Amino acid sequence: MKINIKRFNKELSSNAQLDEFNVRKTNLLQALIEIKKEIDQTLTFRCGCRSGVCGSCAVRVNGIEKLACKTNLNENDFIKPINNSNILKDLVVDVSHETLLISKLNLTIDANIESIQVSQEDVKNIDLQSNCILCNSCYSSCPVYEVNKEFLGPFALTRALRYVNDKKLVNKATIVDSIQTNGIWDCTLCSACTLVCPQGIDPKADIMQLQNISVQNGYSNPYTQNFDFNSFGDDFGGFNPNGF
Ligand code: SF4
Ligand code: SF4
Ligand code: FES
Repeated sequence: MKINIKRFNKELSSNAQLDEFNVRKTNLLQALIEIKKEIDQTLTFRCGCRSGVCGSCAVRVNGIEKLACKTNLNENDFIKPINNSNILKDLVVDVSHETLLISKLNLTIDANIESIQVSQEDVKNIDLQSNCILCNSCYSSCPVYEVNKEFLGPFALTRALRYVNDKKLVNKATIVDSIQTNGIWDCTLCSACTLVCPQGIDPKADIMQLQNISVQNGYSNPYTQNFDFNSFGDDFGGFNPNGF
């Protein structure tokens, strides 16, 4: 089977190149390993668990974020590194943004954590979001980074909800405060993140929940709070949204 891989090696050239490989393996990660072992030792990619658990092997296949170890190949598939990150080499990108984004949430665990009773229901409340494997698929798919590199983004906001719903966290108000700027109100609610998450997490729904929690705590959407609804005009002048 023929596959194409977009590659980049800044030591050789400042431009990316497209390489075509013929592989026998039908699983993408196994095919990458086959290429490295048998065709080109310089091909660089990340992998760890090889079973969809560590999140390290995410790439884009024909433009869609996938875990390489969980993806079956088709003829002429086009493999690229994930988006919105600096490429270090070939399919490996710099993921230092993970720590940076999560640190912006200012999380603090309660010092008396041992004394806090946690029920099965409490665990269930944060179970889905706790399953995030930090694969960066959602981060790569998010269009907001085209215009705002400071955006907290889907996995950090999903994590924010996880901690806001966690009984062991003392500073929920600080977390809610930390997601107001370059956070929940900057999301376009496009669902791209939700569609690509291999863990079935729904960052868009989590962001909407965080918006509700924020409103209940006295925050408002900065993009609509100064909006003048009268600027649409009336039937006899100005803009008529119905077009008559
Ligand atoms: S729903 Fe929001 S966070 Fe998710 S990809 Fe779209 S803009 Fe980004
Ligand atoms: S929310 Fe899903 S897509 Fe995003 S980093 Fe976590 S596991 Fe990956
Ligand atoms: S190698 Fe761990 S998720 Fe693919």
